[in-house]
Amino acid sequence: MHLSRRRLLYGSAGVAAVAAAGCSTGEKSAALTGFTGISMPTQTSDRWVFEGGVLEQQLKDAGYETILEYGDDDPEKQIKQIRGMIDRGVEFLIIGAIDNRSLGEVLATAKDQDVTIISYDRLILDTPDVDYYASFDNYEVGVLQAKHILDQLGADEPGAGPFNIELFSGSPDDSNSQYFFQGGLDTLERYTYSGTIQIPSEQTEQEPTSTLRWSGAIAMERMTELLEEYYSDGERRLHAVLAPYDGISRGVIYALEDFGLEPGTEEFPVVTGQDAEAISVQFIRDGQGQSQTVFKDTRDLAAVASGMVKSIVGGDKPQINDLGTYYNGFKFVPAYLLEPVSIDKDNWEEELVDSEYLTIEQVDEAEEPQEF
Ligand code: GAL
Repeated sequence: MHLSRRRLLYGSAGVAAVAAAGCSTGEKSAALTGFTGISMPTQTSDRWVFEGGVLEQQLKDAGYETILEYGDDDPEKQIKQIRGMIDRGVEFLIIGAIDNRSLGEVLATAKDQDVTIISYDRLILDTPDVDYYASFDNYEVGVLQAKHILDQLGADEPGAGPFNIELFSGSPDDSNSQYFFQGGLDTLERYTYSGTIQIPSEQTEQEPTSTLRWSGAIAMERMTELLEEYYSDGERRLHAVLAPYDGISRGVIYALEDFGLEPGTEEFPVVTGQDAEAISVQFIRDGQGQSQTVFKDTRDLAAVASGMVKSIVGGDKPQINDLGTYYNGFKFVPAYLLEPVSIDKDNWEEELVDSEYLTIEQVDEAEEPQEF
C-alpha cells in the first residue's frame, strides 16, 4: 500500500484556522452580480445531471445569471467550455473537473479576470487558482464501502474466512479516487494482514485497479479478466468486490452475471457502490447484485457551492469547515465537507425516498444510464 493516510489527509483543521479562512472579498463584492459558469463533467451519471440543474436553480433563485455546460468526459471540451464562460464574463466558476490536472492554464486566465473558482466535489490539482472546495469526506466513503463488505461477510466472527475479494478504484485523473481507495484499503488492512481476507489477483494499488473516467464498461472488462484469470478453476470463490461508484459496480455485476453467477444467490459476491443512482438503488432493493451504495446528498453539496457564491456576492466570506485536508499541489484549499451515508436494503427508503432525493417511481422505472 503506497499511499499513506497521513500523506493524503495531512491532519484536520482547527477551529481557529477555520475562522481565519476566506479571501478578502469585501472590496470587490459591490460590483458583483453573481454571474456564474457551472461546468459539469458528464451526463452519463444521474448525479451530475441532477446537480447541474440544482445549482442552476439555486443561483437563479438568488437572481443570478448562469451558464451550465457538460464536458461529456472530454477534458479538452471542458477547457473550451470554461474558456467560453470566461469570455462571456462570468464572475464565478463552479467546476466538477474531468481531468483534475488539466485546468491550470484556463484557470490562470480566469484569475486574471478576477473570477472566483470553486472546485466542486473533485479537487482541482496543480494550480494556485482554486479558491474553495465543496465536497464530502471522501476518505469516509471508502471506509463505509469496506465496512459494508466486512459486515456482510461476517469478517469479525471467530474463525471467519478466508474470503477472496477484488478491488476497483476510480478514474486516475480524479483526485477523489485515491481518497475513496485509501479509505477502503485502510479499513481492510487488518483483515488482509491476518489472512481473513485475501486478494487473489494481488492488485492492491491504485494504478492496476483504476477505471478511467469511471466507465462501467471498462470495469466490466477488468472484472471479466479477473474472473477468467483467478476464479475459473471452479474451486476458488469470489466473496466481495470493493467498487467505488455505482456505474463501476454495475459493470462488475454484469461481468459476474456473464460468468454464470446469479444475483440474489448465496454465491453472488457482495458489491459496494456510491452515488445512489436510481438503477443501483433498484438493484439494492431487489437483491439484484449490488448490496450497498454511498449516498452523498448532492442537494446539500449544491447548496454549499451556491452558498459560497451568495456569500461572496453579499460581501461575506464563505463558510468553511476544513483547512488542512485537501492539498492540491500548491496549497491547502479551504473546503466545506459534508458527510456521506451508507445505504443498503434496510435504509434506502428512509434515506432516499423519505428525504425526497428519489421517488419510488424513479427507482421502479430506472434505466441504465451508461453504455455497456
Ligand atoms: C467522483 C465522485 C463520485 C462519483 C464519481 C463518478 O468524483 O466523487 O461521487 O460521482 O466521480 O462520477
